[in-house]
Amino acid sequence: TLVAVVLAGGTGTRLYPASRSDRPKQFLSLGASSDADGDGEESDSLLSRTVSRVDFADEVVVVTRPEFESGVRDHAPDTTVLTEPEGKDTGPALTYATHHVADAYDDSVVLALPSDHHVRGDFGSVARRGAEVAVETDRLVTFGVEPTRPDTGYGYLEPGEFHGDWADLDSFHEKPDRETAESYVEAGYLWNAGLFAWTPESFLAAARDSRLAPLVAELDRGAPEAGFAAVEPVSVDYAVMEEADDAAVLPATFGWDDLGSWDALDRLLAADDAGNVALGDYLSVDATENVVATDDKHVSLVGVEGLAVVAYDDRVLVVPKADAQRVREAVAELRDDG
Ligand code: GDD
Ligand code: MG
Repeated sequence: TLVAVVLAGGTGTRLYPASRSDRPKQFLSLGASSDADGDGEESDSLLSRTVSRVDFADEVVVVTRPEFESGVRDHAPDTTVLTEPEGKDTGPALTYATHHVADAYDDSVVLALPSDHHVRGDFGSVARRGAEVAVETDRLVTFGVEPTRPDTGYGYLEPGEFHGDWADLDSFHEKPDRETAESYVEAGYLWNAGLFAWTPESFLAAARDSRLAPLVAELDRGAPEAGFAAVEPVSVDYAVMEEADDAAVLPATFGWDDLGSWDALDRLLAADDAGNVALGDYLSVDATENVVATDDKHVSLVGVEGLAVVAYDDRVLVVPKADAQRVREAVAELRDDG
């Protein structure tokens, strides 16, 4: 049984104010090229597009945190929704989901995927091949994308010896600093697509040997609440993948983007003559290289350069594109104030 496990419990902090605590990134459509699937729908959320992308799976399980459960049911009807007791990042979420798959389905293989990506091209055949490799080799399988810049928001995969179409994963490095990322791109490392394939047995064996061990022990006892209480928040990349000594990498040929912060809209949308890109209505006078994103406001730019101007609901954000990562600092302050 090929079970797609879709992760839908992240918050998408850096895309404030389009993403808010009750409306995380995966529920937004965010310039997902309109009507790519030709069904006349232009505003599919990233999550519903993710679920459509795995139509080849035998089962689809969407795993999320309690706050987003009802939103997930709206955006991903016809799937099994699994709600973790509390959001503790992707390590615990995938451990919980994989444990569930082991209990619920026979002879299963998990294809774990994020729900915050724009994907173009032939995703299905690569993903299915990854699941096959996971079954044939009993390894944790990663998917490697050719990097186009030294992005510090991604994990990097060092491919080793090839065995046909997949290679040994010699090392995994999550979110390196700029300089290190440059050296990885230079050395021919690949971006971790955030997509994984594994059999429940091989993943749970690795998890038992990691910081996730207390959670696996409680799950074995049928006590998920106690398990989540006993584990620190950690992503699967740090907890399992960086430590794995028997993993594989399958080169991925599909086009792919994780729209993580506002400056990234540059990569997704066509620019006007002055290099501005926009999601929504705007006017520009002598303004260059800006990013505009809004729901139903009309934005005028006059004589400004290199800004992201974002207006959703009753919230406005203005930030230099170069500082787009710092939006999380504003969100942290807003949360402190309640
Ligand atoms: N259920 C659940 N619970 N899902 C979560 C949680 C959680 O606590 N936290 C995050 N997620 C979901 C997000 O909604 C997203 O779909 C996915 O898990 C990945 O989380 P991100 O927080 O977006 O990770 P990232 O983008 O910083 O990094 C990962 O993806 C990169 C590619 O986009 C890593 O795997 C990197 O190595 C990779 O390059
Ligand atoms: Mg992401």
